[in-house]
Amino acid sequence: MSTDDVEYDEFCDPNNPRKIKYEDIVAASKRILGAVIRTPCTKANMSEKLGMELYLKMEFLQYTGCFKERGVRSTLTTLSDEQKKYGVITSSTGNHGIAVSYHSTQLGVPCIVVMPVNAPITKVNKCGRHGAKIIQFGTTLAEAKRHAMTISKEKKMMFINGFDHPHVIEGQGTVGLEIMEQVPAVDAIIVPTGGGSLLCGICIAAKHIKPDTEVYGVETDKTCSMTEALRKNERIYFAIDSTIADGLGVNMVGVNTFYNIKGHVDKMVVVKEDWVARGIMHIIEEERLVVEGAGATTLSAVMAGLFPNLKGKKVVCVLSGGNIDPTILARALERGMAAEGRLVKFKVTVTDRPGGMAELCTMMAGIGVTMRDCVPDRAWVKGDVFSVQLKVIAETRGWDHTKELIEQIKKNYKEYFFLEVGERQDKTAATRRGPCLAPNPVCMQK
Ligand SMILES: Cc1ncc(COP(=O)(O)O)c(C=O)c1O
Repeated sequence: MSTDDVEYDEFCDPNNPRKIKYEDIVAASKRILGAVIRTPCTKANMSEKLGMELYLKMEFLQYTGCFKERGVRSTLTTLSDEQKKYGVITSSTGNHGIAVSYHSTQLGVPCIVVMPVNAPITKVNKCGRHGAKIIQFGTTLAEAKRHAMTISKEKKMMFINGFDHPHVIEGQGTVGLEIMEQVPAVDAIIVPTGGGSLLCGICIAAKHIKPDTEVYGVETDKTCSMTEALRKNERIYFAIDSTIADGLGVNMVGVNTFYNIKGHVDKMVVVKEDWVARGIMHIIEEERLVVEGAGATTLSAVMAGLFPNLKGKKVVCVLSGGNIDPTILARALERGMAAEGRLVKFKVTVTDRPGGMAELCTMMAGIGVTMRDCVPDRAWVKGDVFSVQLKVIAETRGWDHTKELIEQIKKNYKEYFFLEVGERQDKTAATRRGPCLAPNPVCMQK
């Protein structure tokens, strides 16, 4: 790419990747001191169940709900007076933009954030509330970025790459410094990965302080741009469709992050999006914490059984963000319940004489199953004209309870249809990939 190209960024130049050093991260920690929260890193309630001493680094407790403040503050505090006058511009699907909006307003620096048109509403609104001018452009982060860089050159505003600017990576690395102070004997750290700044910064900080610390990056099956880049040993364009982990939706990983991560990260792990929905649900139920999809990927990957090598070890999962749309949260909870057999869908034909439907309700109530929804169909039913097919959605306590419900329906009714419980369980098990044991391969085997 020539230096005249609109997308040329001297800080993220493929011909001149920047080496990030431990000392740079320590310097960033001094620049952000007092402006960013030192978040807790506490033992998870799920430790015993998951068979490891598990700690949660609670970055969703940052004021704007995400660790991204660290990199942003670290960068803004290095601006010259001239750069402060012209202001800054960035592209973001949400959390980085919110952090730029909040901290540049705090520091009196003008700021524009370009977001794709499909960015989550909560994030777009939050970004605007903190003071930035918002421009919605394109359907991918790549399109939004190109637009932001065009404006940056026209208006002399500094473009801050949200995952690849060296000062951003250094700022994110302060999460690693804190983890090493909070859990000094940590064996492994699991990090959600989009463009790679958090993974890169944590890797450099943790491995400098305790070289045998294992550091794993997690992506979902819809956002695995780092896994694919490491597999192919080059930064490739990875097409991203809609994902529950929108914070990880980066089409191409960073120049500097890729350069610094290669050969250092112990492994990239890919978790299925269904597991992320379950993760969000369990983090609410068992830890009483609300995190967004990207933030839940780490614990979801542990729940999915992707880290059998870490049984009995001291492990930190970074819960990186908490900005989740209520509508996405509702969908995630429903998906999570369905994936665990706690929400079950079936059809059953009952008599349409008085009491027919009541009998079904009584039977379900008798075994403690809640009827969530029931749609009667009389027109497309064959045979007996006094029968009705009911499409039912019911809530149960889980697979065993669902099996009990199915047994009762089989016993009491002649016509029914439901997804075999065994089939569902097998499908769930098939999402497991592993084991994750080798010391330094670039990614999980497919
Ligand atoms: C909540 C959350 N977690 C993780 C990430 C991934 O961070 P990175 O792009 O530094 O890999 C992001 C990125 O925006 C995020 O918003």
